[in-house]
Amino acid sequence: MPQPTIVILAAGKGKRMRSRKPKVLHEIMGRPMIECVVEAARQLSPSKIVVVTGHERELVEERLKNGELFFAAQEEQKGTAHALLVAEPMLDATDILILYGDVPLIKPETLQAFIQFFRSSQGVAFMTTEVDDPSGYGRVITDGDVIRDIVEDADADASQKKIREINTGICMLKKEMLPLVREIKNDNAKNEYYLTDICKVARTRGITVRGYHYNDPQEVLGINTRKELLNANQIMRERILAQHMDNGVTLAGEGIYIESDVRIGQDTVIFPFCFLRGKTIVGEGVTIGPHVVINNSVIGDGVTVEPFCSLDGLTAEAAVAIGPFARIRPTTVLKERVKIGNFVEVKNSVIQPKSKANHLSYIGDADIGTDVNVGAGTITCNYDGRKKYRTTIEDGVFVGSNTELVAPVKIGKDATIGAGSTITRDVPEGALAVTRVKQKHIEGYARRKK
Ligand code: UD1
Ligand code: CA
Repeated sequence: MPQPTIVILAAGKGKRMRSRKPKVLHEIMGRPMIECVVEAARQLSPSKIVVVTGHERELVEERLKNGELFFAAQEEQKGTAHALLVAEPMLDATDILILYGDVPLIKPETLQAFIQFFRSSQGVAFMTTEVDDPSGYGRVITDGDVIRDIVEDADADASQKKIREINTGICMLKKEMLPLVREIKNDNAKNEYYLTDICKVARTRGITVRGYHYNDPQEVLGINTRKELLNANQIMRERILAQHMDNGVTLAGEGIYIESDVRIGQDTVIFPFCFLRGKTIVGEGVTIGPHVVINNSVIGDGVTVEPFCSLDGLTAEAAVAIGPFARIRPTTVLKERVKIGNFVEVKNSVIQPKSKANHLSYIGDADIGTDVNVGAGTITCNYDGRKKYRTTIEDGVFVGSNTELVAPVKIGKDATIGAGSTITRDVPEGALAVTRVKQKHIEGYARRKK
């Protein structure tokens, strides 16, 4: 069977979100909801995917631009039927599957089953489900698996409002049914052309519309409000956590957030209240947390991240040890077995294997060799108020505590910096550099009494 063309409706403003941002760009576990729908659609290998955009369409299209998608512009949002017709010139397959940009939790296997069901219909089918609280949804008036009508929330009377069988929005029709869509009128509470009114039109033609009852309402949750957004995030979060546990990751308690694109290797242990974000990739046998935030980072095998660290844009090779209380900012590379201890901040720096900065330091714009010891309280002074400069520390250097390295500056191989120094000139290989004032004693000095 040839696969359908998929149309994703995403032109609406999403008034009920009360947001400056288009609704379909609001995120579910780090992914704009429209991307969740596109991803599910893509899994079906459709003939093509057409996204109908309108409200803030530049923003939405920009976000989706790398997806080999087609876009149809709906300049004015006159309703879901109108939105579909805007896409009509781009529809090539005989079957059309319509998805809503605000129904993001849908799984491809569910859609596949629906497509199968559709093929035994007369050319129009809706996916329906039963919910505890149907408010906001179109109520489905059924007769067995035949849909007589779908009444939108705004148009439903008191008895119709009690119906708990609702329209998920997901529907399918044969291309030859499009003339019926053109006949839909907008004489309703919102003055919109409702796609759901195809049921009325079909009935006048003696065509039966069939309903595919799906029994997991959570998966077809529609998002119109911030509350529904939270609900969807919680459902997706549970799904993601279950997937990682299936893959052999230990989640040692509550409050763990892992966004959709994060990948984690086997036997990694994550303690409570950790937040793994963006395109983070974590290796095998890693220990993280509690209370750690990691964004867009690559964490090698066997790394330990102690409590209360914030890591962003980090590449850490195997067996690196970080924290507690460390902050790493983009773009930082820590090679094998580097140790970054408590209250150390590292930014835009590369640190070679086995070097250590264990306490209270700022390392910014630095290139540090292997086996370097950066003493407590060392600071790279990388900024003169106008420009940033680099600090180079070669292999085997020992930097004494409470040292300032005023960049640009280079410390030669195996050099030693005496504690409390302010280094403003390059230090030669193997040398000892000390800049502090010599200690002197004034004998017999006593503080004057009042
Ligand atoms: C819609 C359905 C309702 C269903 C519910 C499921 C209609 C008329 N109603 O209601 O039966 O229970 O979804 O979640 O279809 N859109 C456009 N252009 C428009 C209008 C909407 O592209 O002119 C897009 C929106 O961006 C959104 C989707 O279509 O992604 C649904 O629109 P929305 O206004 O949220 O419809 P609901 O009132 O939720
Ligand atoms: Ca909706």
